[in-house]
Amino acid sequence: VNVARTIAEVRAHPREGSVGLVPTMGALHAGHVALFEAARAECDTVIASLFVNPAQFSEDADLAAYPRDEQADAAVAAEAGVDLLFAPSVEEMYPPGFSTWVDPGEEGLEAEFRPGHFRGVATVCLKLFTIVRPDFAYFGQKDAQQVAVVRRLVRDLALPVEIRAVQTVRDEDGLALSSRNSRLAPHERAQALAIPRALATRDPDHARAVLAEAGLAPDYVEVADLDGIPTLAIAARVGSTRLIDNVPLEGDLP
Ligand code: PAF
Repeated sequence: VNVARTIAEVRAHPREGSVGLVPTMGALHAGHVALFEAARAECDTVIASLFVNPAQFSEDADLAAYPRDEQADAAVAAEAGVDLLFAPSVEEMYPPGFSTWVDPGEEGLEAEFRPGHFRGVATVCLKLFTIVRPDFAYFGQKDAQQVAVVRRLVRDLALPVEIRAVQTVRDEDGLALSSRNSRLAPHERAQALAIPRALATRDPDHARAVLAEAGLAPDYVEVADLDGIPTLAIAARVGSTRLIDNVPLEGDLP
């Protein structure tokens, strides 16, 4: 796969027809591949970004422990038909003197537990949209609140991009794919399965009971309105790994 390190290289890349962007932080798994496939099916040119965005991590330890394997990621992207992989340095995205931020004014769910997280996400997404100028951008429904934040960013600032949410990909045991799953010890993974079991009840009280039975003390179990769709959302720490997952309670995916 072609790799671009600089904004100038992305801008010099030949653009043919419609352009799809899949923003990622690497550690690519089948959930990301589903995003690449959705982009491939809809767009003439597919650009993926690989950037572990320091601005969206509220804990240094979480940033330091985030899995990174660019070679493996490049192979996954190539196999999935990605035309260009934009893998910039931190300095390329946040040059000295960087001080302009997008404040999405987000409250609830993740916002309470990860202060500054969505400010980091909104800022980097706006910058990626500006660099790549995609017609469509693809996000995983697993991060449902992130999808809602990005859709509002696009609406509020009238950005010329259409946001597509792609259904959560799960392992056979039901656990939603996440780059953070690689940090789970086997007994933690077994415990983490209480999260999809809890979501399957489609009821916050029942979900809390399922998590408690598995010995998990969740950050939240809540039904939230995300983009007009009532969504049962869970965040829970399993050992030192924090996992999130959700299930829309109504309707088709937007
Ligand atoms: O979902 C992610 O991996 C990140 O939040 C994103 C959208 C790539 C922004 O850094």
